[in-house]
Parts: sequence; C-alpha cells; structure tokens
Amino acid sequence: MSYKNFPMVPRVIFGRGSFNQLNDILEPKRLNSKAPFIYLVDDVFKSNTWLTSRIPLAYDDRIIFISAAEEPKTSQVDELVEDIILTTKERPSGIIGIGGGTLLDLAKAVSIMLTNEGEAKDYQGWDLVKNEAIYHVGIPTISGTGAEVSRTTVLTGPEKKLGINSDFTPFDQVVLDSELTQGITKEQWFYTGMDCYIHCIESLEGSYLNAFSQSYGEKAYDLCKEIFLDNNLTEEESQEKLMMASWHGGMSIAYSQVGVAHAMSYGLAYLLGTKHGIGNCIVFDHLEEFYPEGVKLFKEMKAKHNIELPQGICANLTDEEFDVMINVSLGMAPLWENALGKNWKNIMTPEKLKSLYQKM
Ligand SMILES: [Fe+2]
Repeated sequence: MSYKNFPMVPRVIFGRGSFNQLNDILEPKRLNSKAPFIYLVDDVFKSNTWLTSRIPLAYDDRIIFISAAEEPKTSQVDELVEDIILTTKERPSGIIGIGGGTLLDLAKAVSIMLTNEGEAKDYQGWDLVKNEAIYHVGIPTISGTGAEVSRTTVLTGPEKKLGINSDFTPFDQVVLDSELTQGITKEQWFYTGMDCYIHCIESLEGSYLNAFSQSYGEKAYDLCKEIFLDNNLTEEESQEKLMMASWHGGMSIAYSQVGVAHAMSYGLAYLLGTKHGIGNCIVFDHLEEFYPEGVKLFKEMKAKHNIELPQGICANLTDEEFDVMINVSLGMAPLWENALGKNWKNIMTPEKLKSLYQKM
C-alpha cells in the first residue's frame, strides 16, 4: 500500500475586507520588479467598481473579464494562454482568479499551461503536468465548489470533461473574504452551496472514507446544516461559514472521492452544458436509492428556500445522446468505485444509468 502525498494550499488569508490587502500579498511576488499580474475576473463584476477599484493594478498588470455562463473549456484555456503570451513582454508574475469555480479553475489551468507545452486537453487526467505552474492566487466570490482548495481544475475538452489533477494545480495563495460573496442570487447561492453539501455526502458515504476525509467532511456537513436548515445565523455568519464549509468539503474529497451525483452530472455537463452546481442538484434529487438520508435532507433544504429545479431536461434526448452521457459518466471509474465499491460495474450498468437519467 502506497499512500498519496498531496500538496495543500500553503497560504491563506481569511476575513471580511481581507481583499484590501491584495497589494501587500502580491507585490513581494512580482518578478523582475515589473512582470505583470494577470487577473481573470468574472464578468459579472465588470461594472462593479466596489470590487474592481480595489484590484491593485501597476506596470502592465491587466484584468481579463470572463463570462462564467458556461463551464470552462480546454480550448478557452488555450486561447487565454495564447493571448497572454502574445500580449505580455515577459512571463507574468502571476495569475489571479476572482469568481466562482469556473474562474478559479481557469486561473489554475492558465497558470499551468503558461509553463507546459501543448494544449490543455493533453493534461486532462492524473499527474500529467511536468513543469511547475506560475504563481497563482484564488479569490472566491461564490462558496461551495471547493475549487479554492482542490488539486484539480475541471475542464470540458473535445473528448471528455475531466480535471487536470496534479501537484502543481493547487493555488499558492487563497484570499477568503466573505464580503465578496454578498451579491449572489439565491439560486446560485443554493446550487453552489449544495455542491459542497453533496461533496460531504459522497465523501462520508463512500468506500474510500478514512479519518482524514471524515474529519473534514463531518465539519462541512454540520456547517451546511447550520446554514441551509437551522436558519439562526446572521448574513455575515452565514457567508463566513459557507466559505469554511466549502473549504472543508474540498479537503474532505481531496483524500477520498466524490460519488454518484458527480459522475452523473459530468455526463449532463458534457452533453447539455449543464453547470456543475445545478447539475448536481438535478441529479441528487433522484438519488434516494444511494443516499437516502442525504437526499431527504436535501429535499428539506430545497423546500425551505423555495428552490424549483428544472424538470425533464433529458425528456427529448435520442438514444445516441443517452449513450454519450452514459459513456462520459461511466468513464469516471474512481467515483463509481468510491460510491458503490469494487463491483460497481455490476450495480451501475448502462441500462440502470439510463433509467436514472430518464427521470431527470
Ligand atoms: Fe463538485
């Protein structure tokens, strides 16, 4: 038995308003005294001067606004990298991602692809990255995905939706300022928060569970209950606790795996472009069979916050389309093995999976 030796985020700053310290954090990391920092920022902040005016631009630093309407793609990473190489005179000092999971994953992937040859799709998988990424910083403005702590950056490529999992993927620095999460819609807050809740259930109910994952998973699970059910927190407390729930949920799956909901929502994302948070919710709503307690509580949370999930998204799919989705999903072997054990193939047959998708 050989145990995995995982890196963790080496530096984190936590606190409301900590975003104001960004200049102090970054300036010592500036290379050749003037190489630029490139900010990848969710374009919902484009006219939000409360946030953008506090991004400390100097020399040739620049902001690239990016829409998070779609899941991040390998081709998008390649275009960003090409653009950065063509428009900056020297290797950037760092990449800073500001936004939700999409922007954080793009920042991780771009920082890797600036120092590694070829295309992003060549690195989808486990431990394929050869060279250390450039310095990269994650600043979440939505909590739940765990992208701020994870060792992966999940990208949709021409053949698959799969992460670049490597020791060079985790951020060098994370800024956790819960004030940045305040402008979000109720739906987005719920879907992304439920990504965290589902990480906990899939980790805690999985066959890969161990004391490391359990300790983080249980904490994140308790925080999710406080935030989404108990309802006796102030808005600030709720935002701060969800930030820490996301962190712990991400740490929990670092040393185990996710499960059925993630494996199935990857299929939906690949075929239909369904975004991660809402996709997980659509799937999880139908998984009583695998996670009875977890789904029961999920339905309570959904009712409490008056969330209506889309129905019938698979209603008009052809057999070929179902097959594409089923192949993507069943390709996530570690997720299925974690969820259903070594003999998962006998339980989750293509027919069984199709019948589950047909309910959605
Ligand atoms: Fe997730």
